[in-house]
Amino acid sequence: MRLPEKFLDEVIARNDIVDVVSEYVHLTPQGANYFGLCPFHSEKTPSFSVSRSKQIYHCFGCSKGGGVISFVMDVENITFLEAVEKLAARVGLQMPHVEYDPKDRRRPRLLELLRVAARFYHETLYRERDGAAAREYLDGRRITKQTATRFGLGAAPDDWTALTRHLSDMGYTGNEMVDAGVAVHGKNGSVYDRFRRRLMLPVIDQRGRVVGFGGRILGDGEPKYLNSPETMVFSKRRLLYGLNLAKNTKRKEFILCEGNIDVITLHQAGFDSAVATMGTALTKEQVQMIARYTSELVICYDNDEAGKKATERAVETLGDSGLQVRILQLPRRLVDGVPVKTDPDDFIKLFGADEFEKRLKGSGSPAEYKLNELFRRFNLNTDDQRVEYLKEAVRIVAGLQSAVEREVYAGRVAESAGVSIQAVESEVQRARKRVEGAKKKKRDTEVLRVEEQRQPKDRALRYANMRSASAEEGIICLLMEDPSLVPYASEKLKPEDFSSEFLAKVYALILEKDEALEYIPPAAVLARLEPGESEHLSKLLQSPAPARGKKAADDYIDVIVQEKLIRAGDLNALAAKYRQTKG
Ligand code: UTP
Ligand code: MN
Repeated sequence: MRLPEKFLDEVIARNDIVDVVSEYVHLTPQGANYFGLCPFHSEKTPSFSVSRSKQIYHCFGCSKGGGVISFVMDVENITFLEAVEKLAARVGLQMPHVEYDPKDRRRPRLLELLRVAARFYHETLYRERDGAAAREYLDGRRITKQTATRFGLGAAPDDWTALTRHLSDMGYTGNEMVDAGVAVHGKNGSVYDRFRRRLMLPVIDQRGRVVGFGGRILGDGEPKYLNSPETMVFSKRRLLYGLNLAKNTKRKEFILCEGNIDVITLHQAGFDSAVATMGTALTKEQVQMIARYTSELVICYDNDEAGKKATERAVETLGDSGLQVRILQLPRRLVDGVPVKTDPDDFIKLFGADEFEKRLKGSGSPAEYKLNELFRRFNLNTDDQRVEYLKEAVRIVAGLQSAVEREVYAGRVAESAGVSIQAVESEVQRARKRVEGAKKKKRDTEVLRVEEQRQPKDRALRYANMRSASAEEGIICLLMEDPSLVPYASEKLKPEDFSSEFLAKVYALILEKDEALEYIPPAAVLARLEPGESEHLSKLLQSPAPARGKKAADDYIDVIVQEKLIRAGDLNALAAKYRQTKG
């Protein structure tokens, strides 16, 4: 697929980035730029900047950046073509007819197939014979018809080819079914249904598209859940079950749980902000997704050992996301004296929605949770266990950011262990000094790594020759601000002279531009780069070119050419070059 360059330029020119970003982010002018809270990571102080003159954005916090097209791609989580379509529609431009590359067609086709499959399963649920077992299962779990409809639940019939036959009638090929994750290759080119005799839970992304399925066995057996494999459109680490509904909640806080049935039961009980990861640890990507819709998150994992471990890991992952995190710990339950696992689904069924609401309100901070867990693990009646308990508790308290919190929890720890608050506080002070010392050391090593910081984040773009790359970056910034120097530079410097392939590509793009322009709109160049490339370039362009004029151009060109000669091992030419520069 290739869009005509002229059309792309037109779309960019007519969609002012400040206007477009303002539709998602509240911006305030500050100096030459606009600032707001970054939509790509959660933060309290604005580090997201937009430049009207350059038509680019850059976040100093998470270092995302680019032009108006990449902004829309990221914020809407859509493809390049979809973003162009959206922006064209925004200003009433007609999309030109484009020749689709078969590769670009595959994704929409898979999504269409998955929608057909979801409809097939949903209809099967209400078929007399094929849906009976699944309907009975839903009844048993007290999931209403209304809830089943809201979640698009379905039934996979007890049949090896029910879905594949249906899809093939609808014109889909066996390979497409396998690529979409709903069928499996059999013998001699045949395919058969991946899901059989299971309750089907479609996984729907933030934009309301069916991207895969979870299939629960009806009753006991292994595996309990069979999920879609990772496909072109199904990536577990970038999906949250229930987010398509939760994003419209009126509740302040989101609820994160482990299981998809937990999500369903919670929504049915009125907690329509519940989401779940699908059997994997919470990822940074998922945290970012949540942070787009809320600033408060309550973790409510199962209360078994695995759930506790997962809670601690999730707290780690949520680290400095800016989300306010609380933990709802479900009560321990004993059956015949043996502890049994409780999940939100069990809890609601046993104790009701009001009781859950109460616990939601009463849920505490991660520190409180960790201290509770610690308290449970130790027998505080013996001195050596008390000492151990205090050691670990002090570590937790010392790690807290706010002094008020540290004081409150130090008091609680002192009380629980029966020692004076002064003793705990002085231990906390000492522990903090250690932590601060370690932090400072880390900062120092970071300063030593300035060069590292100048490297593009995308590892594929890393500079092999930093001296040359710096000059290459320099001349690019210079030319974009002052294209009248382009003819001069193009005579002395060719893209082949560059050490960085990526910067050479940018330089070549600049050479194509019209030097009669007053400056080159960065967005016009950024739109032709890969995401990692445009991210780095927009970071560079965020600050004004450090030097100007022909002299600066000469300096940059000299460095680039020298470095090239060194790389080529052409020392004679290099010596000549030096003489020439000196003279
Ligand atoms: P759980 O085992 O806690 O199941 O798995 P659950 O949600 O309580 O299930 P029910 O109530 O018995 O139906 C939590 C999540 O882990 C994933 C699923 O997404 C499940 O919701 N999982 C679990 C799998 O992917 N495969 C499995 O075999 C089990
Ligand atoms: Mn369960």
